Amino acid sequence: MKAIVYTKYGSPDVLHLKEVAKPAPKDNEVLVKIYAAAVTPGDLIIMKGALVTRFFSGLLEPKHKIPGKEMAGQVEAVGVNVTQFKPGDEVFGDLYVCGLGAFAEYVCIPETAIALKPANISFEEAAAVAESAIVALQGLRDHGKIQPGQKVLINGASGGVGSFAVQIAKTFGAVVTAVCSTRNLAMATSIGADHVIDYTQEDFTQNGQHYDLILAANGYHSISDYKRALSLNGIYVMTGGSGSQLVQVMLQGPWISMTGSKKMSNMGLKPNKKDLIFMKGLLEAGKVKPVIDRRYPLREVPSALRYLDEGHAQGKVVINVAQNN
Ligand SMILES: NC(=O)c1ccc[n+]([C@@H]2O[C@H](COP(=O)([O-])OP(=O)(O)OC[C@H]3O[C@@H](n4cnc5c(N)ncnc54)[C@H](OP(=O)(O)O)[C@@H]3O)[C@@H](O)[C@H]2O)c1
Repeated sequence: MKAIVYTKYGSPDVLHLKEVAKPAPKDNEVLVKIYAAAVTPGDLIIMKGALVTRFFSGLLEPKHKIPGKEMAGQVEAVGVNVTQFKPGDEVFGDLYVCGLGAFAEYVCIPETAIALKPANISFEEAAAVAESAIVALQGLRDHGKIQPGQKVLINGASGGVGSFAVQIAKTFGAVVTAVCSTRNLAMATSIGADHVIDYTQEDFTQNGQHYDLILAANGYHSISDYKRALSLNGIYVMTGGSGSQLVQVMLQGPWISMTGSKKMSNMGLKPNKKDLIFMKGLLEAGKVKPVIDRRYPLREVPSALRYLDEGHAQGKVVINVAQNN
């Protein structure tokens, strides 16, 4: 099969399209023919060999030679102990905790890591959901304790995570403010934001408004700026953003949360089948629609990652694996 392979950490130049052996499923595994994948900032972090990820991804060189986390495809074969899927099922999932490998024509994964693909969306759209939407969901629901009627602000609302966060927050009945740049204001409104703030014109941490929940998906503000923008019992959840923002929230967040009424923390994604099924419900009900920015064939994964690395994707950047054939 064709796959994007790398043997050393570095820029997207270390990635090469190669012919490799097609995997065979173990007893508890499903062999999936991948039709689409999607790229995430996490793929960039792993590929570059950031120190913090090397314990998971290999200390000196990549442990998993085929990168990629978000994928959607069709079950081609199943191991003898697999009970939930059969050949022909259309599935989607996040390979983050099961060896990566989404940038390839086939992958073998435990049946616990995938769910049936929503019937009404394409493979590209399903791949785009597999991790980014789950981050947004867990950030808002599990960490942010989102409630109907709350004022929720999404910073970085136009990217992969943010474009899902806006839509998911609306499904919980929140009043959503999306923060993005000028060119993305119309997109943010079109996916359901009640209010939009152009970060090139206005600093939401300085305008006197307060929010019950702030989800920081991108951009930089200090922790004291975010704290000022929270209402009395407000919650701040950082899913992504700058490194210094992360250090601040890890060092100061627990203290602020312990000593006052405002709660501030970062979050780590916990991929799980239950949340994939939850998102499937929202997608099939038409309450959430993935925003796709660009599409690349499998051989152009390095270009897709270079584009994502510029930091201004509008929604998700997807890989059409089938197109490579
Ligand atoms: N915690 C976890 O477990 C976890 C899991 C997955 C992802 N993440 C993190 O979540 C973050 C977001 O991921 P993503 O997929 O959404 O990234 P992304 O798609 O690359 O984000 C790009 C978006 O960010 C916006 N942006 C850039 N600078 C901004 C600013 N100053 N203010 C507001 N928006 C700004 C851009 O809009 P403009 O073009 O308008 O500037 C663009 O639409 C990343 O840091 C990623 O590593 C964390």
